[in-house]
Amino acid sequence: MGKGKLAKFADMEHYENVFQYPFSVVSDVPFDMKGHWCEQYFHNDNPIILELGCGRGEYTVELAKLYPEMNFIGVDIKGARMWTGATQALKEGLKNVAFLRTNIEIIDRFFDQNEVAEIWLTFSDPQMKNPRKRLTSTFFLNRYRNFLVNKGIIHLKTDSNFLFTYTSYMVEKNNLPVLFRTDDLYHTEGIDDSTKRILSIQTYYESMWIERGLNIKYLKFQLPTEGNLEEPDVEIELDDYRSYHRDKRSSLETSK
Ligand SMILES: C[S@@+](CC[C@H](N)C(=O)[O-])C[C@H]1O[C@@H](n2cnc3c(N)ncnc32)[C@H](O)[C@@H]1O
Repeated sequence: MGKGKLAKFADMEHYENVFQYPFSVVSDVPFDMKGHWCEQYFHNDNPIILELGCGRGEYTVELAKLYPEMNFIGVDIKGARMWTGATQALKEGLKNVAFLRTNIEIIDRFFDQNEVAEIWLTFSDPQMKNPRKRLTSTFFLNRYRNFLVNKGIIHLKTDSNFLFTYTSYMVEKNNLPVLFRTDDLYHTEGIDDSTKRILSIQTYYESMWIERGLNIKYLKFQLPTEGNLEEPDVEIELDDYRSYHRDKRSSLETSK
């Protein structure tokens, strides 16, 4: 039988690769390692890549194995999920991996200007009714700008047509450079081998969506530091499901 939540939380208290600062804890207290992750934790000068809403941290761990010359940090508020990735990274002796348990809303309290090179958003909740909560909204993109290098890369991998369409409009409205875009990742020709290898990493949610026969979508774009970001003023057809455990909904509904 697997470990229960309490046992996982107890483990994580002692994990050297886990930093736990939910909003209720940090409040207005500064995070000492802000601006010093490389020097104080990774002990190298390598680029830092974040996975936001990492769940069990599949991308964080697998990318870290593929790219030992880069540093990876998985971020999520759910500790019991993160435990899986953190435990695996420790067992496999991966020194280029860390996990941060916090609310993504306050992510810029943990990283300083230019400290992060890339961000992965893997199967994020589409937040169809609440634009501000979408991880590609202007609310979040403005936060990312506080620590992402100029023209830093954002990868969105998703089952959600809603989130994919919303983000595509966001990118178009703000002239953000698109590096790659497909609405059917596993039936797209001409992807080079190393990109294919990266994109074939499957998270827990991805494998469930694939089982349900959904297309996986992928958008890779750059976020320049300059210029005001504006929300796209568009109506988007809602997904006909809301999350893995919820019921189907009418596909006639739309949302801004
Ligand atoms: C649908 S799950 C996807 C998990 C994982 N990336 C995967 O593909 O299996 C979304 C994850 O994002 C986390 N999350 C959503 N909003 C968050 C927020 N504002 N702050 C921290 N974590 C958040 C949730 O706790 C959850 O683990």
